[in-house]
Amino acid sequence: MRKFLIAGNWKMNGGAEFASDLLSSIKEHKPAISEDVDVLVCPPFISLSMAIDQLHETDLLVGAQNMHQADEGAFTGEISAKMLVEAGCSYVILGHSERRAYFHETDQLIHEKTKNALAHDLAPVVCVGELLEERKSGDHFNVVKGQVQAAFDGLSSEEAVQIVVAYEPVWAIGTGETASPEQAQEMHAFIRSILKEHFGEIADAIRILYGGSMKPGNAGELLQQPDVDGGLIGGASLDAESFVSIITTAESLS
Ligand code: PGA
Repeated sequence: MRKFLIAGNWKMNGGAEFASDLLSSIKEHKPAISEDVDVLVCPPFISLSMAIDQLHETDLLVGAQNMHQADEGAFTGEISAKMLVEAGCSYVILGHSERRAYFHETDQLIHEKTKNALAHDLAPVVCVGELLEERKSGDHFNVVKGQVQAAFDGLSSEEAVQIVVAYEPVWAIGTGETASPEQAQEMHAFIRSILKEHFGEIADAIRILYGGSMKPGNAGELLQQPDVDGGLIGGASLDAESFVSIITTAESLS
């Protein structure tokens, strides 16, 4: 009942020329995407409009990596959900661990952003995940529970079902180290159980992505887990062949 979502998080990599070349190469390697898989690319803000134009007649979706929680105003340097929707974005990544760590984003702020994105029909990809120390001390379930509950606090089931959760253990991001399929499944099932407590059966329709060094070599075993509904891919999404290989793996498992 849940469709895989394969999402590329390009982070702060590449300008317009890089973006254009990468998108052309993805289209070339993957001229058609199965209806059973959603594919999303999240380039830096400056390349969003270009990406939307370039992907106009394809099935590839475009999303942003962040947004401000207000609609407009005196917030120099910021971009709102309203602007992203106007540009043609359908998703926005929120609360990535890099934003939590380097830009001091709190659970409360991420909740505000989530609400504002939903108000504009922009689907939030809300990132959660524990630090290495937290996993080592056995605190990982509590940490992730707090992050999930804060993001979904007070939302209706209709709102909740539009959110995508991305479980990204911080120790696995950009490190080459991946959660084992068992570790991923355990946490994904736990996240779904929290969502079930709050929203009942609708939780079965909420997609939970895994992120953290997902690559062509490990995508299959991760995506085979019953509660892993796709991937949020950093490094491997910057290489067309790797990204397309992960999409093809998802298609073969659908
Ligand atoms: P990675 O990044 O695939 O390079 O580990 C994932 C992410 O940060 O979203």
